[in-house]
Amino acid sequence: MAITQSPQKQSTAEGVEDDQGLSNECKDLLLSLPKEKGWRTKHIYLFQGFWCQPKEIQSILSFQRHFQAQDSDIVLSTIPKSGTTWLKALAFAIANREKYPISKKKSHPLLTSNPHDLVPFFEYKVYASSDLPDLSKFPEPRIFGTHIPFPALAEPIKNSQCKIVYICRNPFDIFVSSWMYLNKVKPDSMPMVQLEEAFEMYCNGTMGYGPFWNHMLGYWNESLKRPDKVLFLKYEEMKEDIVSHVKKLAIFLGYPFSVQEERDGVVEDLSELCSFEKMKDLEVNRSGKSIMNFENKNLFRKAEIGDWVNYLSPPMEEQLSKVLEEKLSASGLTFKAAKRP
Ligand code: A3P
Repeated sequence: MAITQSPQKQSTAEGVEDDQGLSNECKDLLLSLPKEKGWRTKHIYLFQGFWCQPKEIQSILSFQRHFQAQDSDIVLSTIPKSGTTWLKALAFAIANREKYPISKKKSHPLLTSNPHDLVPFFEYKVYASSDLPDLSKFPEPRIFGTHIPFPALAEPIKNSQCKIVYICRNPFDIFVSSWMYLNKVKPDSMPMVQLEEAFEMYCNGTMGYGPFWNHMLGYWNESLKRPDKVLFLKYEEMKEDIVSHVKKLAIFLGYPFSVQEERDGVVEDLSELCSFEKMKDLEVNRSGKSIMNFENKNLFRKAEIGDWVNYLSPPMEEQLSKVLEEKLSASGLTFKAAKRP
């Protein structure tokens, strides 16, 4: 079903910027949804059990209605600021290394393109401006990124043989990374969200794609039920030992490294190609724009484990620890660096 775009209209006091350029169907839907103050849009809306910005709701509806998965597809899923850019780079490099060999002497698309251009998001790119994007020329294997929670993924993704990889990060660091990022990319017309206010919203779950605990649990539980379908990775563990995680990821995706490749140091070279230090200094990542109109340079900040201690007070630590205890302790999902050293 085609979604008609309604003409843009002037802002009024009641949040019109939220629905500019949206279909009438989506605007009507927004009117029926609970809403809260947003971080980078005036409001975010509770849609299918998670908090989401208006434009993304429209894209997600198109994605859910129209996306047809192939068994060879790879879907990389994250809550924002958990290491999405890194995971996209790694999966792209692994799955395409026959076409683009990993060699220090050769050029590689990751040296001239941001990972978000090589592995597009369903909700910000593929379905952002069209209900029926032409995916016939999409290079194989098709690799997509998404922040959409597991229950809201298009059914063909769940029912096909395609693989899903989730990267999870310590929620304390996700918060700080999100707060820094969103204040950089928010429109100038929006006031800066103060740390304390943002923290309350985060602990209440009202952040894009949140509550974060539901997002994590959706993929965590599915990875326990179907370990051949969903690979659940942790940012901190990958930072500590990237080589063994690259091998694990390659096996899971169906592109294992040969003995010869391992002997030749391909795993190490690929890890280095995708490292924070390497990627942050590339021209394309210092000056380009890839996700919507946001500058790539903001995607690369510190990439440290436990940087949150520099921003959150002991009472804030206690408050978020209680949220983790209440929401996640029964699941068996734990995090490194979730306590002040
Ligand atoms: P910090 O803000 O803590 O530095 P996402 O890619 O999901 O938007 O997550 C962004 C976070 O991942 C940022 O964390 C960023 O610095 C870090 N990051 C970006 N590229 C990385 C890489 N290649 N390796 C490890 N971390 C990376």
